[in-house]
Amino acid sequence: MSNNNPIGLFDSGIGGTSIWKEIHQLLPNENTVYLADSKNAPYGKRTKQEIIQLCFKNIDFLLAQNCKMIVVACNTATTNAIKEIRDKYKLPIIGIEPAIKTAANKTETQTIGILATKGTLNSVLFNQQVESFTNIKIIEQVGHGLVELIENGEIESLEMKKLLTSYLEPMIKANIDYLVLGCSHYPYLIPAIKKILPENIKIIDSGEAVARQTKSILENTNLLNTSSEISSQVFYTNSDDQVLKKILGFEKNVFEKKF
Ligand code: DGL
Repeated sequence: MSNNNPIGLFDSGIGGTSIWKEIHQLLPNENTVYLADSKNAPYGKRTKQEIIQLCFKNIDFLLAQNCKMIVVACNTATTNAIKEIRDKYKLPIIGIEPAIKTAANKTETQTIGILATKGTLNSVLFNQQVESFTNIKIIEQVGHGLVELIENGEIESLEMKKLLTSYLEPMIKANIDYLVLGCSHYPYLIPAIKKILPENIKIIDSGEAVARQTKSILENTNLLNTSSEISSQVFYTNSDDQVLKKILGFEKNVFEKKF
């Protein structure tokens, strides 16, 4: 495996590009291949077995592009399938989990909120994590419908505003001081969420932490790309490429592909 080989990332759709942006910002030298499995979104409503099979299919696609490392840029996929993925594939695998620990360590009201998919909130991995914070009240809310609206390019719609308000108001009333975004699609909702939350409630997502972890694993495995050549960033989607292009803010190297 050469250091020039790309990092492969995948998500159920376009949301994982929020993670790609953090990784690309921290590691601009790295070549990357991003896979949006939008045709099969949302993963949050699927069974564990379905999610595992979709992850295998996505990783096989990325391995065919000679990826040196896989970033599972999806909380739902990580919390449901990371063990099975690590058992099957022998290259470095990075997962993303809701940043509950960070929020739990910082909260002063001893109450935090988490917005995530049903698949993440119901997963064994997530529930094990939650059980370890016995002194903190954690208000869990499934973001029903949010991923679908984001995938349709309806981030600023009235429907989005209504859904977010109904999910966040009970958390505000419960006196949370941190809101954890437990889905890689949700960082795109931060401007809309900020319009609803009072200023004292801080928003936490896992993007930066995943980027730092990616860098450290690349260093530890001697896979960091030290080449001074301009890196290549390639994106594939099995759905309409327009929404992916819009969320990325560019059109170059964004392709529709059946997989
Ligand atoms: N981006 C995925 C996550 O982080 C979205 C889940 C879904 O497709 O429901 O959980």
